[in-house]
Amino acid sequence: MSKQSRILNPELQKRVTSAEAAAELIPAGATVGMSGFTGAGYPKAVPGALADRIRRHNALGGTPFRINVLTGASTAPELDGKLAEVDGIEMRLPFQSDPICRERINNGTMSYADYHLSEVSQYAWSGFFGKMDIAIIEVVGIREDGSLIPSSSLGNNKTWIEQADKIILEVNHKQQALLEGMHDVYYGVALPPHRKPIMLTEPNQRIGEQYLRCPIEKVVAVVETNAPDRNTPFKQPDDNSRKIAEHILAFFEREIAIGRLPKELLPLQSGVGNIPNAVLEALDSGPYKNLTAYTEVIQDGMLKMLKSGTLEMASATAFSLSPEGLAEFDENIEFYRDKILLRSQDISNHPEVARRLGIIATNGMIEADIYGNINSTHIMGTRMMNGIGGSGDFARNGYLSIFMSPSTAKNGQISSIVPMVSHVDHTEHDVKVIVTEQGLADLRGLSPRQRARAIIENCAHPDFKDQLSDYFERSCATGRGMHTPHILGEALSWHERFEETGTMK
Ligand code: COA
Repeated sequence: MSKQSRILNPELQKRVTSAEAAAELIPAGATVGMSGFTGAGYPKAVPGALADRIRRHNALGGTPFRINVLTGASTAPELDGKLAEVDGIEMRLPFQSDPICRERINNGTMSYADYHLSEVSQYAWSGFFGKMDIAIIEVVGIREDGSLIPSSSLGNNKTWIEQADKIILEVNHKQQALLEGMHDVYYGVALPPHRKPIMLTEPNQRIGEQYLRCPIEKVVAVVETNAPDRNTPFKQPDDNSRKIAEHILAFFEREIAIGRLPKELLPLQSGVGNIPNAVLEALDSGPYKNLTAYTEVIQDGMLKMLKSGTLEMASATAFSLSPEGLAEFDENIEFYRDKILLRSQDISNHPEVARRLGIIATNGMIEADIYGNINSTHIMGTRMMNGIGGSGDFARNGYLSIFMSPSTAKNGQISSIVPMVSHVDHTEHDVKVIVTEQGLADLRGLSPRQRARAIIENCAHPDFKDQLSDYFERSCATGRGMHTPHILGEALSWHERFEETGTMK
């Protein structure tokens, strides 16, 4: 495909310019909606050019140049990293995983707001983020009528294009032209009281359009790029991840034998990372066929499952592939094209759809407490890790919400099972199963005290089991609130001890 043939609209051909010239169009203080979700489909050139401009501006002194950055989810060093490095971000939302952003959020020099990913577009439409000045959206190409061929993620792109006063498009020649046709952009969402049911009863249904609508008059610049997505290398599952996967597979087998799960399971949602990948690998080597996924991201493990027939199809909002995964996808894109659908994140994570389909949600956690509350975001209750992402969308509304973690962190000095979580993202009411390499606790149907016994017995590391049992038994012995017994003055002392001494022991 020739370079020019990716921009077929004659008007927009005339607006092709450099990243530096496009960055000049972004004023200080602007609220900018950018494409990008889990390191896929984010703008590659304009954010860096803007960061250079900010650096030059700030070197002269005066009022610092900062912007508000809204995305789909996490991006990459070329976007979050470069802008955070020059202290160019005033407010960041709704999810990030960049080390420089994290440092700034935690040292108080960057504001960050953490939202359920399904709800971001609703917040934007309701005006909570103020006026959106500019959208910067990566696309695969521009069609003759000005509509856009979306890139490797859809995220919040539809909302940003609709909301922004002005639009900058990055046409990335590196992205596969054959991504065209893999998207399903739904234009039926509305604010209450005008909402209609989302008519998805199977993960593979199409309810929308293949392209993003784009008002040509709003487009102020088109920048051509040729750069790959972040493509984080794939880590081989370690022992803990493999054990966690084994516990989950054994649990699925029991549920199928009882008749609570069909042999094709239910649509899978899988968080990103080492443990979810290990679970996918284990499923792939098991007896499963014709599974489906209704999830946020397509990772390497899902490609393998599609290839082997374990997975029939996957619906998501983005890719998150390693360099090897991307090479596999690029080589066999004709095979994958009909088996993958990318949707906007307000649909991929929609609570109504998650509830109707009966999603099996598997997500990582930082810590769980003995009653089943989960902390997914805060280190020692105060320091942001990444954000809640879509875990809450799926955990509360799915049929099965499974949270997973090794039973210890930081060389065994931290127990992932604690008396009381230092921050709550998912309450005891949303959490059905907790699993560590030690074992799995099925919390369904249990009272708080029964849950505490199941979690300590099955999930705690032997180094912390006695300590947890002792805390629980002494809490019960107080004879005070016996529904969820606690010694409040002691409940968070494990975290305090770690902060002061470097160990929870
Ligand atoms: N206390 C303190 N630190 C802890 C900890 C605990 N209980 N558990 C883990 N950590 C630290 C690790 O030591 C590691 O620190 P480092 O970066 O300094 O090495 C860091 O937290 C990440 O831990 P790791 O075991 O590598 O986690 P992970 O990659 O499996 O991710 C979450 C775990 C919870 C951070 C991740 O799943 C997440 O961000 N979840 C929220 C969003 C989400 O669920 N998204 C998917 C929805 S679709």
